[in-house]
Amino acid sequence: MSKHQLVPLGELANGEIRPIEINGRSLLLVRGQTGPALVDRICPHAGSDLVNGSVVGNRIRCPTHSYLFNLETGSCPLGRREGWGPLKVYKLIESDGYLCVQTNELENTIE
Ligand code: FES
Repeated sequence: MSKHQLVPLGELANGEIRPIEINGRSLLLVRGQTGPALVDRICPHAGSDLVNGSVVGNRIRCPTHSYLFNLETGSCPLGRREGWGPLKVYKLIESDGYLCVQTNELENTIE
């Protein structure tokens, strides 16, 4: 199964938000309190660019309305109440000293 190498293990600093493009898709690698996460770059609430957000514990805060999205599940309590979806989170794997994402993970979950 093919995979994309993202960064060497341990390279992503705590609180870092790093933009990544894979096959024309805009994603963010983020290191929260419980480790690295790969998420969509665009906020599911109203389309802001989360690269300008900030990391709070294990959540990313959107720069526009300050909503917080869990980096493990993508959930936002306001989204559940208001009926819009979570931030997409992609499963990371470790392989050959790198953080990676499997190609099928991206194909199956990005619209
Ligand atoms: S655009 Fe991100 S919380 Fe509103």
